[in-house]
Amino acid sequence: MTDHELMQLAEDARARSYAPYSHFCVGAALLGADGRVYTGCNIENAAYSPTNCAERTAFFKAVSEGERHFVAIAVIGGKDGEKGGFCAPCGVCRQVMAEFCAPDFRVILGTAEEHKSYTLSSLLPASFGADDLTGGEKA
Ligand code: THU
Repeated sequence: MTDHELMQLAEDARARSYAPYSHFCVGAALLGADGRVYTGCNIENAAYSPTNCAERTAFFKAVSEGERHFVAIAVIGGKDGEKGGFCAPCGVCRQVMAEFCAPDFRVILGTAEEHKSYTLSSLLPASFGADDLTGGEKA
């Protein structure tokens, strides 16, 4: 699975975005260690706070189906009908990624024209995780 192919799947998922309030449509495609891809879109709600981001939709689908090891996620998003820029994952989604992914997990951001790739550790340095609950030391 190339980054380009993963991004294509994120774009397909974006078409299923439910975003009647923000009109900001996001798609994600999450590559599991076994090669399976789990897609997600943002799903908004009239009460606003129950809204789920595309990335978390993909993670929760994957984990609920038994996958816990991940290689990369492709994300693409922007306002309906507008040529958008890169859509970086929100802080809550970064924290969910950190629960299941190694520091070298790749986050691939796309626009219609180009991709760029980050490691999770560069997007969420000095993160809080399971080790912190058991008194592990981290800077
Ligand atoms: N959103 C995502 O799905 N992923 C992101 O990385 C950023 C934001 C969604 C949440 C909401 O439905 C809309 O974009 C505007 O914030």
